[in-house]
Formats: sequence, C-alpha cells, structure tokens
Amino acid sequence: VGKNQIYLTSCHSTNDIASEKIQNREAIDGTVIVTDHQTAGRGQRGNQWQSDTGKNVLMSIIVFPDFLKFENQFNLSICTAVSIFETLSFFSNQNIKIKWPNDMYINEKKVGGVLIETGISGQKFSHAIVGIGLNILQTEFENPKSTSLAVQNPEKSFNRDRIIEKLLGVFEENYFLLKENKTSVLKEKYMDNLLWLNEEKKFSDSNGPFGGKIVDVINDGRLKIEVENKIKYYDIKEITYLFH
Ligand code: BTN
Repeated sequence: VGKNQIYLTSCHSTNDIASEKIQNREAIDGTVIVTDHQTAGRGQRGNQWQSDTGKNVLMSIIVFPDFLKFENQFNLSICTAVSIFETLSFFSNQNIKIKWPNDMYINEKKVGGVLIETGISGQKFSHAIVGIGLNILQTEFENPKSTSLAVQNPEKSFNRDRIIEKLLGVFEENYFLLKENKTSVLKEKYMDNLLWLNEEKKFSDSNGPFGGKIVDVINDGRLKIEVENKIKYYDIKEITYLFH
C-alpha cells in the first residue's frame, strides 16, 4: 500500500480522483492519492468535508478486495477504523476512540472520518476507495465538535507526512489480516476501542431522545443497543449520539 502514491496540491476530492484513475485503469492495488486541499471534499451522508490547506490528512487508498463477500463488507470499515486508531495512538496518548461506524474521536471530539466507496462487478467487489480525512495541524474549526491532533496535544508537534506514512503501513498490515480472513482480530481491536461501549449514554432516534447502552456492532455493521432491557439495532442514518 502506498508504493504508487499520487500527490496533488489541490483537487476536487481525492475519492473522485481515485475513481477516475480506476476507470482509466491507471490504478494498481494500494494506489494512494494525497492532496493538500479539496474544493469538493465529501463526507458521509452527503455532508461536505472541510479542511484547511496543507494542514491535514486528505487521502484515498485504492484497493481491489475481490476476496470480500458482500455480507462482510463492514469488515473493510473495521479494518480502516482500526488502522486510523492505531496510527493516532502511536502519536498521541490522549483518549482516542472509534465512533461507530468509522469516525475517529479524541477526548469526545471528532478528529477524523472515513468515506468508503465501492464498485461491484458480478458477484464481487471490483474496487474500493477508502477516503480518509484526519485533522492534524488545523487549529480553528467552524464546528465546535471538531478538533485536531495538534489541538488535543498542545505540547507535541506533528508532521503530517510521517502520519500518512505510518497510516499506510498500519493499513497494509490490517488489510492483510482482512485478506487472510483473520477478521476476529480486527473486530476485537475495533470493539476494544469503541466509543461508549457498555456505557449508559444518551442517543436520539426518530422517536426522540433515549438512554441506552451500546453492547455490540453486528456483522452487517448495525449498532446493537440495549434500551430498558430490550435489544435494538440501528443503521447509520437512524441514530444520533447525544454528546453533552
Ligand atoms: C465523514 O463524513 O466523517 C467522512 C469524511 C471523509 C473525508 C475524506 S477526505 C479524503 C477523501 N476525499 C473526500 O472527498 N472525502 C474523503
């Protein structure tokens, strides 16, 4: 992963560039697109992804996971989240957590996010574009719930390119586990570092706010929550975490 690395000073979205490279057959497995600036950075659920120029990680990793069964596709999310978690933990000893499904939090503030886009051919995945945005050096945020590695570790200095290098190495290792079907190792690392696991917390769904406890993330990626001794399952759009 990362042997073929394409660096752009600016682009619309590294995920879109990745998609073009795949279409033009210019991508090999593990090709990485990195940029300093996106004019149309995309987040989950149709959101925009904003980032100051040159300060943060904005990249897409292209992989061809033809071994991955459709019903196990959430394992690629797990693999990515765990890789980001391990990378950030290598550089910082703050309270880093994976927020289901694959957001990254430090001290209960969002430091990064993932946007995975897949292509299908017949009964297999033809490709996956793993888009990763991580706030490293940015110090000012429009959204008060956002933060960066630098803001949360004021005594340390960070080098974005070293973080990218580390992340690619860790992702390669974890992607190998995925390929070898050693997914229980990945799942364990994911659950060990999941935000709010087994804690009584407040959430909200289409019926309003409620208290509950995350007890698991099931195979299809849904969140399993215990609410008043009943078990409920949620898809990504169906639930919001209520941070105080
Ligand atoms: C989220 O909503 O949390 C996911 C954010 C993903 C942002 C990254 S930045 C690099 C890649 N290119 C994009 O347009 N989006 C992803």
